Amino acid sequence: MIRSVVRGSGSALPKRCVSNEELAQTVDTSDEWIVERSGIRQRYVAGEGETTSSLAIDAAKAACADAGVDPTTIDLIVLATATPDNTFPATATKVQDALGCNGGIAFDVAAVCSGFLYALATADSMLRTGMARRALVIGAETFSRILDWEDRTTCVLFGDGAGAVLLEAQDSDEAGPGVITSRLHADGAQHDLLYVDGGPSTTQTVGHVRMKGREVFRHAVVNLAEVLGEVLEESGLSIDDVDWVVPHQANARILDATARKLGIPAERVVVTVDRHANTSAASVPLALDVARKDGRIKSGDLVMLEAMGGGFTWGASLIRM
Ligand code: ACO
Repeated sequence: MIRSVVRGSGSALPKRCVSNEELAQTVDTSDEWIVERSGIRQRYVAGEGETTSSLAIDAAKAACADAGVDPTTIDLIVLATATPDNTFPATATKVQDALGCNGGIAFDVAAVCSGFLYALATADSMLRTGMARRALVIGAETFSRILDWEDRTTCVLFGDGAGAVLLEAQDSDEAGPGVITSRLHADGAQHDLLYVDGGPSTTQTVGHVRMKGREVFRHAVVNLAEVLGEVLEESGLSIDDVDWVVPHQANARILDATARKLGIPAERVVVTVDRHANTSAASVPLALDVARKDGRIKSGDLVMLEAMGGGFTWGASLIRM
């Protein structure tokens, strides 16, 4: 069978790191409140010249270098973002030009915090059906540019960054490497719980993130536990077979509650929310790259990815590394 095999990963962060203490100098909050409610200790914030595309390009180049793949041989780029450089063209086309692989397929996916899962499932389908052979799946965000920095209920929770995974269509088998299965969901009825109050077709402004945190929290734990059960059932595997869970890094309490609900030991969950905060579509590939590079995730490991975000959208994937 043809499977989409992970050949490499890469990530990029803005230069400037902002601690909770620094944030508390301009916003009515405290390190204690942020750590207790979210587990976040710091976040990276893009400065002048740093954009969603510049972070995505750095992450993409790092993934190609990690895989030992010439970037000009990439024939598919799927980039998940809610903070594109421009309304159009797709930020993916800027990455394509920077890598010098012009002529292949390149487009953006908008599913907010679940964007990377949507992008991964899309690229996987295209690789398995032969539309492309080598894909970069990227999550990249500059959420700092759509935050209301006077709204302490949202601005303390998010950060900027990018992560990329290089997938290649390869012959594999049941027990071999590659994306095993993905499940995606959306529920448009929950729009008002997490959204941006602007856009080209409504206000002609960029808008700011608005969120009813408590309700999002409640939905996140239920939806994530359900979709993780679905991918396990579909693949005939059990939670004991999973070596690592790489969740969307929204909030340490969501990670703990979901792990408890599924009976996953905390030491098998990759956590980076303390240092990156919530980087939306970038959070899963950023965390995956951290755990691959520090040697936790190894070749042959069964890895489960999951995310939920605005829409609502949510999804999960199982990958044999
Ligand atoms: N600093 C200090 N106090 C604050 C802050 C802050 N940054 N923000 C809110 N407060 C205050 C509130 O005003 C409120 O005060 P009051 O009781 O006097 O009215 C009090 O803290 C409690 O506020 P709650 O919103 O009830 O706090 P809660 O315990 O629910 O924590 C949080 C808020 C962290 C947002 C939580 O609900 C949460 O994690 N929700 C999930 C949302 C999330 O992670 N979204 C990310 C995007 S979606 C996704 O990725 C899944």
